[in-house]
Amino acid sequence: MATRETWTTRAGFILAAVGSAVGLGNIWRFPFQTSANGGAAFLVVYLFAVLLIGIPVLLGEFVIGRRANTSAIGAFKKLNHPAWWVVGALGIVASFWTLSYYSVIGGWVIRYIGGSITGAALAAPEGYFGAISVGSSSVITHVVFMAITVGVVALGIEDGIELATKVMVPAIVILLVGLAIFAATLPGAGEGYAFFLEPDLNAIVSNAGTVLPAAFGQAFFSLSVGFSVMITYASYLGEDDSLLADGVTIGIANTAIGVIAGLVVLPLLFAQGVSASTSGPGAVFVSIPTAMANLPGGDIVGQIVGIVFFGVVLIAALSSSISLLEAAVAFLVDNYGFLRGRTAATLGGVAFVLGIPSAWDTAWLSWFDGVGVSLLLPLTVLGVVVFVGWVLGEDAVAEFRTGSSADSLATVWLWGLRTVILAVVVVVVVLNFRDLFLTPEAGDYFIIPGPLR
Ligand code: PHE
Repeated sequence: MATRETWTTRAGFILAAVGSAVGLGNIWRFPFQTSANGGAAFLVVYLFAVLLIGIPVLLGEFVIGRRANTSAIGAFKKLNHPAWWVVGALGIVASFWTLSYYSVIGGWVIRYIGGSITGAALAAPEGYFGAISVGSSSVITHVVFMAITVGVVALGIEDGIELATKVMVPAIVILLVGLAIFAATLPGAGEGYAFFLEPDLNAIVSNAGTVLPAAFGQAFFSLSVGFSVMITYASYLGEDDSLLADGVTIGIANTAIGVIAGLVVLPLLFAQGVSASTSGPGAVFVSIPTAMANLPGGDIVGQIVGIVFFGVVLIAALSSSISLLEAAVAFLVDNYGFLRGRTAATLGGVAFVLGIPSAWDTAWLSWFDGVGVSLLLPLTVLGVVVFVGWVLGEDAVAEFRTGSSADSLATVWLWGLRTVILAVVVVVVVLNFRDLFLTPEAGDYFIIPGPLR
């Protein structure tokens, strides 16, 4: 068998992981989860979830991947706990599932770059979204986005993912900061900041039952944990890095970029008096162009801002979708010796077909997103926490310490995974399950797809 690829540099790994983390979750999902769940109150819980739970779990996935040096399902076998392959498999199912609809949204973004260039997306935002987000139009852009994703993954780790993300991640940061500075100059931006940054602690307490699962789900989704993706990426690492330093860098970079995205989106909306409470998959695609169409300076300013904004979203989405596809591709390549290019193309094709319902009807897309984030994701995270904390145990600590000088932190980390983090994740799983199977209004069980009710 050919030797397995590795990242050429440590920065290459970090940028690829940041590229995976920063995506539609930060720019499309985060601002609207924030506004749907009480603005700054949500942000507080989210930050807590990222720092105290998300990053330790991310380190757990890094430990599994680097110690095993093979993709997510084989990893558990290689670590001498073969029965736990189920956790890796669940993560791969989660990432493949997510890829199917992620690519649909990525396709819309491509369309919106075009719509910003011609001005059509800004002229009648609601009608435009209605026309391009469903039916054959949406299926076509879904194909295009998936094809680009396949192209990058087919090129492999060094020449594909590492090279691409080395360009993409700095571009995201520069463009997003530029947009945030622009947004700050808009009259009325202050209200957007206030909504985003001044927490109402009462709102957290009185809505804990919904804010908690939403914030934790968002934190895991955003850090790409619970998808076998970070296990896979870490499997291409050598032994000499500090996983702790890398994990903290990645977690903080992702959060910072999420917050900057909020500093772009919310002032833009508030400045133009567009309701920030619009939710659902169409929110960014309707409110943002509405806001852009009304910018001071006229149509041309709106179009330029539109091109840059959706350009950033597209880059961010691609640097994530490649990681979603890579998790499954790496499994087949590592375990069966399949050729990478053909595997990427075949799996991309299957994910495309799985995404057709989401492309056809946004109600299906919401359902796929709900099942992925509320069911597959928390279960995989739970599996990772139990596995690293209670099954790998001291081996996990040894791996954590390799390349790192933070000896005592390793013990605290393991203890945290075994106790507090495990407890919190169990609560999150239970709350999410309650939403999926029990409460929804009037017998409206989310687990039954909306379009079939
Ligand atoms: N973290 C990505 C985002 O926020 C989504 C993603 C999840 C990517 C899991 C890869 C794995 O958009």
